[in-house]
Amino acid sequence: MHYFERTIACGLINQEFLGKTVRISGWVNTRRDHGGLIFIDLRDRTGLMQLVFNPDFSKDAHNAAHALRSEFVISVVGVVVERAAGTTNKDLATGKWELQVTELVIENKCKALPFSLDEAGNVDEELRLKYRYIDLRRASMREKFALRHEVIFAMRECLHQQGFYEIETPILTKNTPEGAREFLVPSRTHERSFYAMPQSPQLYKQLLMASGMEKYFQVARCFRDEDLRADRQPEFTQLDIEMSFVKEGNVIEVIEKLLAHVWKKTFNIDIVTPFPRLVYAQAFSMYGSDKPDLRYALKINDITSLFAQTELKFLRSVLDTAGKVGALHVNSHDFSRSELDAWVTKAQKFGAKGLLWMRFKDEQTIESPISKFLPVDFFAQVKTVIPDLKPSSVLFIIAGEYNEAWTLLGRLRCQMAKELGMIPENEFNFSWVTDFPLFEYDKENKRWDATHHPFTSPQDGWETQQPGEMTARAYDVVLNGVELGGGSIRIHDAQVQDKVFKLLGLTKEQVEKKFGFLLEAQQLGFPPHGGIALGLDRLIMLMSNSSSIREVIAFPKTASGYDPLMDGPAEVEESQLQDYGLKFAPKKKD
Ligand code: AMO
Repeated sequence: MHYFERTIACGLINQEFLGKTVRISGWVNTRRDHGGLIFIDLRDRTGLMQLVFNPDFSKDAHNAAHALRSEFVISVVGVVVERAAGTTNKDLATGKWELQVTELVIENKCKALPFSLDEAGNVDEELRLKYRYIDLRRASMREKFALRHEVIFAMRECLHQQGFYEIETPILTKNTPEGAREFLVPSRTHERSFYAMPQSPQLYKQLLMASGMEKYFQVARCFRDEDLRADRQPEFTQLDIEMSFVKEGNVIEVIEKLLAHVWKKTFNIDIVTPFPRLVYAQAFSMYGSDKPDLRYALKINDITSLFAQTELKFLRSVLDTAGKVGALHVNSHDFSRSELDAWVTKAQKFGAKGLLWMRFKDEQTIESPISKFLPVDFFAQVKTVIPDLKPSSVLFIIAGEYNEAWTLLGRLRCQMAKELGMIPENEFNFSWVTDFPLFEYDKENKRWDATHHPFTSPQDGWETQQPGEMTARAYDVVLNGVELGGGSIRIHDAQVQDKVFKLLGLTKEQVEKKFGFLLEAQQLGFPPHGGIALGLDRLIMLMSNSSSIREVIAFPKTASGYDPLMDGPAEVEESQLQDYGLKFAPKKKD
């Protein structure tokens, strides 16, 4: 390794350097003034090295060292010596040695810090982001970016070995409708026209297949103007892949191989492939989610049949409107009454109208707000549906329209697993969810939307099905309950594409204007193809056990899309607006 003006890095000093003169540079991590001697822990990317300023070695250096404060950047020359007996530090790689400094150069001073590196983890996130370069000096942050680099490097290596080309696609483009709102960029030269920033390189990568590139990948920046959450940013990075002449299994295999390579290279862990596969309908009915966390069981049980004769008003109305009754079954926790009530409140926070609980004290006695209305043999009845029911089991029940009730049970399942300590630590649990519905009904706008995107191929038999019955040749890869990536086999036939656009409610004119180029390409020699994109930020978040993707993005935005470091977005000069022919409407009143 090359250290420029330095002869070695702080953290790499070892026995070999004993008695040698070295030059090292870095940041003052800590400073201790012990009367005649000044001790500094000097920090660079590789670690810490203790410096000693002793007037007996250099009066000048010792004098100058009085001025040093935290985060000054300095270079020093000195001799590596062994520390005195009893002063070694076992926790530090360089803890046996220290540098007797003979020369000191102050490269840059540091004013009072907005926060010390030790307390950075506890300060307000916006302050951390405003001084992100200081925040990133922490070893724990540096490690995340070292990991990010290793992962991307391993991905490139694996895909290169398999014959993929890395190809860049435009950032100034026309929209690729994928559900989210786009960021627009006004054009100065094309009056009244806007570029759109890509939500993903979806259409370009498909066109690269029409170009005969056959195997494409890109570490691609994507932009989506959507509501932000812990695992969403307005700009984020995908590992984007597209391949020609493939079926679902080929894409799945490439990703399993890729993730296995990444885990081996970065953690030296052999992950088990192939990953389990669930079809969407099964995933949803068992876990109330299209990205189930399979590190723990806690399945949703359909107990609708047990209430077929019920006279309870609220259950009756659910059953009469073809609704369902679902239950989570917990037999590993002794709930207090106040805990049971607290879960009702939590379910309401998730959006449930209510949560019904039942505790079986023994086979005859049931505690529940509706215990009076239950038949005497209810325990036996439940056992026919939930065979591992025990006296002491608790059921948490939600009734309602299937999708709504199961989504709520799915959320409750995750929260319960977290709070009841059911999630094993240090496990990476991968799975595939396949066979998604092709369309989702948007009740508000009364139209069908593509579940994945409009370029996803329907499964065989779609010609005779209703939109709500059609399934997509789409697949998602899930890690620990997080959607890590998604992809599909695409439509490569203009007629099929045109029909899908029609089902989505696009008029002939809209199709021509937005997608004329695609339909044309699909009639000029388009190979069958498919692909996938992995969310890189989410992947690194999970690999580094971070709480949000902001932790693994060097300069992220806050939850409101604000950049505290550069203070962006910002207003522009009137003259700039004029260049673009733009004028603001009056400000909205507060
Ligand atoms: P999709 O929209 O499912 O598919 O995105 C793929 C993956 O990108 C990640 N992701 C995000 N990460 C951070 N912030 C966001 N706002 C965000 N949105 C998505 C997720 C997601 O699984 N073009 C298709 C892929 C294809 O069909 O090949 C696409 O973009 O991890």
